[in-house]
Amino acid sequence: MNYRHIYHAGNFADVLKHAVLARLIRYMQKKDAAFRVLDTHAGIGLYDLSAEEAQKTGEWQGGIGKLLETDLGPQVSELLEPYLSVIRALNPEGGLRFYPGSPKLARMLFRPQDRLSAMELHPEDYLRLHRVFEGDHHARITELDGWLALGAHLPPKEKRGIVLVDPPFEEDGEYERLVDGLARACRRFPGGTYCLWYPLKKGAPIKQFHEALQATEIPKMLCAELAVRSDRETTGLTGSGLVIVNPPFTLKDELHQLLPALKDHLAQDRFASQRAFWLRGETKPAKAD
Ligand SMILES: C[S@@+](CC[C@H](N)C(=O)[O-])C[C@H]1O[C@@H](n2cnc3c(N)ncnc32)[C@H](O)[C@@H]1O
Repeated sequence: MNYRHIYHAGNFADVLKHAVLARLIRYMQKKDAAFRVLDTHAGIGLYDLSAEEAQKTGEWQGGIGKLLETDLGPQVSELLEPYLSVIRALNPEGGLRFYPGSPKLARMLFRPQDRLSAMELHPEDYLRLHRVFEGDHHARITELDGWLALGAHLPPKEKRGIVLVDPPFEEDGEYERLVDGLARACRRFPGGTYCLWYPLKKGAPIKQFHEALQATEIPKMLCAELAVRSDRETTGLTGSGLVIVNPPFTLKDELHQLLPALKDHLAQDRFASQRAFWLRGETKPAKAD
């Protein structure tokens, strides 16, 4: 396990993932009933962007750094408000030093009745995450393989929940693992909202991944992708995607506003692109391309 998220915190992929996670949470909160966020690959929870590791890559500058410098217009600002409000709260004196990882973002958006279960397998990162939530009775932090949690921890006792699956993709076979994990989780908790993250890069098997997801016959799956540059001259990350299972009915329209704005503001070259479409669901399955 070499991956450490501190090198990537706040980058363009985090922006998309965290903006959507915040929308999913706000939607759950339209009902009074409690829900749980299960974060299977949680990271350290809170990132100091002035740390040597974050400074070394400077990735956040092309993500949240750029976004905060931008005039987003009233509609997109409203959609991003839950996400950006947490960043403002973490940096009360202005500027941008602290950036929330997914478990911290979720926790800061919670009402008193909402709960978090977060898993992190890297021993050092687990300790750091544990420290962030020390004494917090709304959060259960476990040093556990997140893939196991997709079985053992579902369904949540609240019977309502968002499951974020955000693996590091440092091993071969992660796309297949994501499909298998989702299929297993959906058998135990079919009514859950799931949000799966995946990377876009040269040679990534996206078409096969989408086809494998369609073959699971999980009834409602929305896909959102944002690529910030061409993959012609790099083998690195050029974009990212999210698969959202059982999305709020409002999400697709929101993505149609959000994604073009993120593309415009985070683009690194003229090949930046975005799309949001049903993999399975409201309309006929989209052709994966
Ligand atoms: C992409 S980062 C998570 C970022 C976090 N979800 C966020 O948005 O702030 C992936 C994390 O998964 C951890 N990890 C890797 N394999 C794992 C496993 N099998 N179970 C749980 N955590 C794992 C890594 O140590 C890393 O911290």
